[in-house]
Amino acid sequence: MQWLIENNNSSKEAAPDNGNRFLVGNGYMGIRGTLDEHGRDQLAAVNLAGIYDRVGDGWREPLNAPNPLHTVIYAEGKALALPEMEAVHHVQSLDFYHAILMRKTTWKTPKGAVTVESRRFADMVHPHLIGQEFTVSVDAPMEIQILAEIDTDIWEIYGPHYNKIEYSRENDNLYCLAYVQNGRDQVAVGRKCRISGQADQNDRFERGEKAGAFIYDLHMEPGKPVTLKSVCAVYTTNDEAEPLAAVQAALREEHDFEALLDTHKEAWDKIWAVGQVELEGDDMARDCINYSLYHLNCIAPRHRNDLSIPARGLSGQTYKGAVFWDSEMFILDYFLYTQPEVAKSMVRYRIDTLPGALEKAKSYGWQGAFYAWESQEGGYDGCSDYNVTDVFTKRPMRTFFRDKQVHISAAVARAVMLYTDVTGDVSLLAKGGARTVLECARFYYSLLVKRATGDRWEIHDVIGPDEYHERVNNNAYTNKMAAETCRWAIKAAEKLKESDGKAYAEFCVQTNAEEFLPKLSQTVNSIYVPEPNESGVIPQFDGYADLEDTTVQEVRNRLLDPREYWGGAYGVASHTQVIKQADVVTMLEMFHGDYSQEILRKNWDYYEPRTEHGSSLSACMYALLACRFGEPDQAYPFFMKSAQADWLGGGKQWAGLVYIGGTHPAAEGGAWKVLAEGFAGLEWTDNGPILRACLPKGWKRVAFRFCCRGKWYRAEVEPDAAEIIEL
Ligand code: BGC
Repeated sequence: MQWLIENNNSSKEAAPDNGNRFLVGNGYMGIRGTLDEHGRDQLAAVNLAGIYDRVGDGWREPLNAPNPLHTVIYAEGKALALPEMEAVHHVQSLDFYHAILMRKTTWKTPKGAVTVESRRFADMVHPHLIGQEFTVSVDAPMEIQILAEIDTDIWEIYGPHYNKIEYSRENDNLYCLAYVQNGRDQVAVGRKCRISGQADQNDRFERGEKAGAFIYDLHMEPGKPVTLKSVCAVYTTNDEAEPLAAVQAALREEHDFEALLDTHKEAWDKIWAVGQVELEGDDMARDCINYSLYHLNCIAPRHRNDLSIPARGLSGQTYKGAVFWDSEMFILDYFLYTQPEVAKSMVRYRIDTLPGALEKAKSYGWQGAFYAWESQEGGYDGCSDYNVTDVFTKRPMRTFFRDKQVHISAAVARAVMLYTDVTGDVSLLAKGGARTVLECARFYYSLLVKRATGDRWEIHDVIGPDEYHERVNNNAYTNKMAAETCRWAIKAAEKLKESDGKAYAEFCVQTNAEEFLPKLSQTVNSIYVPEPNESGVIPQFDGYADLEDTTVQEVRNRLLDPREYWGGAYGVASHTQVIKQADVVTMLEMFHGDYSQEILRKNWDYYEPRTEHGSSLSACMYALLACRFGEPDQAYPFFMKSAQADWLGGGKQWAGLVYIGGTHPAAEGGAWKVLAEGFAGLEWTDNGPILRACLPKGWKRVAFRFCCRGKWYRAEVEPDAAEIIEL
């Protein structure tokens, strides 16, 4: 396997997409795969994990740091920059085994050809460091100028987030301290530059009007390339009270670029030693799945033990840098089985944000924990009540994602339970995990309604995973997950009691569990979950079958504007059976053991033609369910869709004037789920891990490592044999 992707398209239109596909990151930051000379217009960004700001009435979003990689060359005074100055040769490539972004570009100038080659990496060992190597060569003598700066003219969606910038300089080091609008935070960035080749000290000066930059004036000759090596550092007030001092300390240290690169590569070697997928018989699938895992590894929080993964990873400010149910339902499993520490951090993030969830429930008059739909730090819900802008009137539309997508709390409860089950680490239950699950259950308990004449508990006025149908009653997915959350709460309490009597006693005092849990046990079996109708189809919610039954294409044809929102009050899909993404199918995938294969199949057959797959979360659930009823070939195109979400790029990038593109961690994680839990059929049982394999046509072998309860295993699957080998 080559572990390399390449691209020659340097057009203006391709820049946003390339920025996603060529991203490098280390969990602390994501550096969009734009070119060295790119800036705001091409959406260049060093996106930071877990630090947010809000300007005026704009949406609260994560910060992009001033960009210390900005490097531009001038030949005879003219900037050689793509896309404005066309190149005679250009290739950008990503070594996604070692997470190194490279480019090679040659421009023709009146004096001769100038070639730039560069490499960059977000250091996997030192999460605050970035390395960049930038080499210029010429084929005729000429005057070249290199501008190496910390660019503060950066891409921001709802900025500007900095209201004051201070530059300073110390020998080869440039520093920039940016003050955040919130008045509390600061972001400090530094760049240590070392130039080698023909240049010497005399070639360097700082041009008055360009603060925060080194400018090197060079007389260059053929055969004598010049290389600029930069080691950059980023710290914020999230990391250190004095981030500038931290940057200075980091850069005053003598860093050897090559040595940093070597240890960075070793760190990636270790990641792949446990985290890669071996696949024989389908090179494209093999490359795409590992490329998806590359992206997940770039954004996995490792520098802290209490961060999760936002829906667009660290690819920018889109989706407000917020954590959605994507993390628990789609992304968690890969880390759970291959890097349990990362999974633990993701779960801990939810446990830590329980106060925000309790507060949110209370604000709506409910009890327990209602987690943020778009969760930022501290559990702050970044989701606004007006999350979509009407394309016709340009007015904000009232949406109900924040207040009605109640299934989010069940996803959180699932994560705590799955983490505990698969890792065998019960410590999180004592540290707030059991309480988190119980408070999620209490939330659903407080939502239950019974008709005066009825004998079952229902949940009304919700939005299920299919966001196009708002405020429905008895969404099958939500009700089933709510009931399961109640069971999980009972189980979590039992486990805690067994494992840590003292913590259990505290938990009982905190939650009044001994009074509440018996009530829950009495109720849980009467929570209504819609049953299959006479055709075996489970209605997505009350009244779903009465909606207009039409096709996705027909609904699309009704759009007056391609950017129109399909859901909400008068969306084109709202009054039809056409849905945005897997909903009942997700429920059946989660609880496939509770239904016959025939029911699984009938629902797949019914819902798939009615699904727009308007979310990148959808395809993997269809793929997984098809595996559950033994049709891997039916699953295959959906698996590929998920695995290729970022490999192919494209897709929806803009909603009106708002950039909504970025990477798709849920699709990446979903693809691993299909491969490991679908095709290889990995499942955790009380007796240990098992495989129920079913490989698609042509696949000769799939192998991957995984960890359960502290033991490492290797899954080896061939068309007629599946084996788990203890390592
Ligand atoms: C989907 C949600 C998802 C969110 C973030 C939306 O388009 O409908 O299910 O959580 O994107 O990925």
